Amino acid sequence: MTVARAARLSKQNSPRSAGRRLFCFFGNVIILAVPVVYLQTYSAAHTRQWGARLGALLAPGDVICVSGELGAGKTTLATGIGHGWGALEVVNSPTFVFVNEYSRADGHRLYHVDAYRLRDAADADSIALPDLLDSPAAALLIEWPERVLAALPPERLWVALRWVDEHTREIRMESCGPRYAWMLDRLRDA
Ligand SMILES: Nc1ncnc2c1ncn2[C@@H]1O[C@H](COP(=O)(O)OP(=O)(O)OP(=O)(O)O)[C@@H](O)[C@H]1O
Ligand SMILES: [Mg+2]
Repeated sequence: MTVARAARLSKQNSPRSAGRRLFCFFGNVIILAVPVVYLQTYSAAHTRQWGARLGALLAPGDVICVSGELGAGKTTLATGIGHGWGALEVVNSPTFVFVNEYSRADGHRLYHVDAYRLRDAADADSIALPDLLDSPAAALLIEWPERVLAALPPERLWVALRWVDEHTREIRMESCGPRYAWMLDRLRDA
């Protein structure tokens, strides 16, 4: 592809739209399929919708980190993820219990951790995070992942939510590892 054609496509395909492929320029170098997707949502339902798209892609062993300030919409996104994954239970905030476990008809499980009240990776043991990560047939979704960063595997999807205004949130998803790059590709095609 020529630089001019890539530039034309780049203009047509706004990088802020998750449904489109990204192009990025570093001097003369064009990087295709940057491992980041940006999107904006305009309501809680809209955030849940994107969460459901992501949840539908989850498989055992996946780790989804959801970061953002208080009220950024982490649990709202997590609710959508659980719904899209097919949770049989209602997905809500595990702030006071630390970990919620959801099940699915095929026996797979989804752990939803809220690490807000943990201080560091040593605290991760207190909620058996290593066991959750090693669990067969289970995926892990964690809010406030920065609290226990050292206890998390290097390969993961990192989702950062940012409050823009009362109804608008910016969501940045970055893949670390090929499994999550694949996930972002599927989301761009959604
Ligand atoms: N576009 C949006 N996306 C997500 N939530 C939104 C949006 N617009 C408004 N909201 C509202 O923002 C709030 C987000 O709350 P939520 O519990 O999901 O945040 P949180 O990041 O989990 O916070 P905490 O760290 O306190 O648990 C909800 O009341 C939701 O209805
Ligand atoms: Mg929350």
